[in-house]
Amino acid sequence: MTRHLLGIRSLDADSIGELLRLGGEFKRRVLDGRPFPALPTKTVGMLFFEDSTRTRVAFEQAAKYIGLNIVNFTTRGSSMSKGESLKDTILTLRYERLNALVMRHRQSGAPRLAARFFGGPVLNAGDGAHEHPAQALGDALTIIERKGRLEGLVVAIVGDVQHSRVARSNAWLLSKMGAEVRFVGPKTLLPSHMALLPGRVHYDLASGLDNADVVMCLRLQKERMFDGLVSSVAEYARLYQVTQQNLEWAAPDCLVMHPGPLNRGVELDDEAADGDRSLITNQIENGIFVRMAAFYWVFGHGWHDLERFDREEARA
Ligand code: NCD
Repeated sequence: MTRHLLGIRSLDADSIGELLRLGGEFKRRVLDGRPFPALPTKTVGMLFFEDSTRTRVAFEQAAKYIGLNIVNFTTRGSSMSKGESLKDTILTLRYERLNALVMRHRQSGAPRLAARFFGGPVLNAGDGAHEHPAQALGDALTIIERKGRLEGLVVAIVGDVQHSRVARSNAWLLSKMGAEVRFVGPKTLLPSHMALLPGRVHYDLASGLDNADVVMCLRLQKERMFDGLVSSVAEYARLYQVTQQNLEWAAPDCLVMHPGPLNRGVELDDEAADGDRSLITNQIENGIFVRMAAFYWVFGHGWHDLERFDREEARA
């Protein structure tokens, strides 16, 4: 059966653990200049139907590191601007013999639809407000590097949960791996189906941050909002901005995270964003290595293949 990376919700803890372990190992090997297995005969299509900076570059870097060939695709300049449907576009790419697709789309579920018609692995690079699995894997690797574990940690996810695929994928991952998740924000930015998400709700920043090990801020997603959800950006910042000062409420060695793009002075103040506790740049870098792991994994490989590769290298 073809493996996809469509979301974290559908993964079990063993698969998440294996992806994280592989991501950490690829990182060590890339940084130390040690050999790792590659996928040189495969071609991956990068389908970005929505804007992206870090996700797109991280997927491209990961693909290059692991030896994949890359074909870029955007709606502008393609037959989709002539009205071709998503299904027909995916079928076209299939018969042009692409082996995997990375896909970002504003519609939740679009990568799952693509997976039905494509035939090979599909990796979700963010679909609507649904999931962003590779982001969550990179964030988890970043936490593990500092804390040595996920289990038992208290993670406060602060801000626009309603529109955030990052929040959803992180919440699923963290809770499956034994962390305690809190969602912190105004009622209007927490989804009405909150009870279906794994975590507790805090409407007040002080109680949400109380003794938290990790404070994960989310961007206010103005492009997905209809007017009226927050009375003003200034009002949001006054009540929910994470600052060097209010981080006093969290655990003394708490970590500060943000998936980017960051609205400085809205979700985080400069001191908190650029301070010692901030892992924002680590999140970006680790995004590459978990995506290498994701490519390796969706093509059917796992930890034992890495070990086999090492045995063969030692013999050669
Ligand atoms: C996020 C996204 O696009 O979902 N960014 C990212 O991929 N790192 C978050 C956002 O847009 O706020």
